Amino acid sequence: MKEIIIASANEGKISEIKNIFSDIRFRVISLSELNDVPEIIESGDSFEANAEIKARIIFEKFRIPVIGDDSGLVVEQLNGRPGVFSSRYAGENATDELNNLKLVSELLSFPEPHKAKFVCTAFFYDGQKEIITKGEVKGRIIKTPRGTNGFGYDPLFIPDGFGKTLAELPADVKNKISHRAKAFEEMKTMLKRLRRI
Ligand code: IMP
Repeated sequence: MKEIIIASANEGKISEIKNIFSDIRFRVISLSELNDVPEIIESGDSFEANAEIKARIIFEKFRIPVIGDDSGLVVEQLNGRPGVFSSRYAGENATDELNNLKLVSELLSFPEPHKAKFVCTAFFYDGQKEIITKGEVKGRIIKTPRGTNGFGYDPLFIPDGFGKTLAELPADVKNKISHRAKAFEEMKTMLKRLRRI
């Protein structure tokens, strides 16, 4: 069976992406299933740049088609923060819980609603072809976490049109409306059109 690597070891992301790609005839591999994975330094100042960095480093090492995913939360009142720093907002190796606490504390002095969006960029590279797709979902941040599904900032994010946080919504609903679902569904369409999957 042919293989495609998702250049991430974030279990939350990987389970969502495997779900979206469950109907293709490729084995979808995450970085935690591989040995000798090179260190990836997300030195880019945009989601696009970081998704590309991840895909290229992993392709150079394993020579298997790769999709890099870079995503994060963009909060209007915080001038776009945490943005590309979403996973390390409260410091290197910060937990989701600490990142969420920092986000809530930064928003204390601002009036509601705290408008925000999740953004995802996917970058495919197989040594020849480069494909970039993007997705976003708009909503607002609440200051008391709700729900246990998902990961990251999900318990604090209510998508527009819903009365529940992403962590309260079932996984299949998140996987229809999320930034990642949009970027990866479009990626799947492009890869099929170009006969890469
Ligand atoms: P990355 O792995 O460098 O792309 O960082 C992604 C970070 O953005 C995650 O660690 C989360 O903090 C946040 N994030 C991205 N997508 C989601 C999501 O779907 N739900 C909640 N948080 C997310």
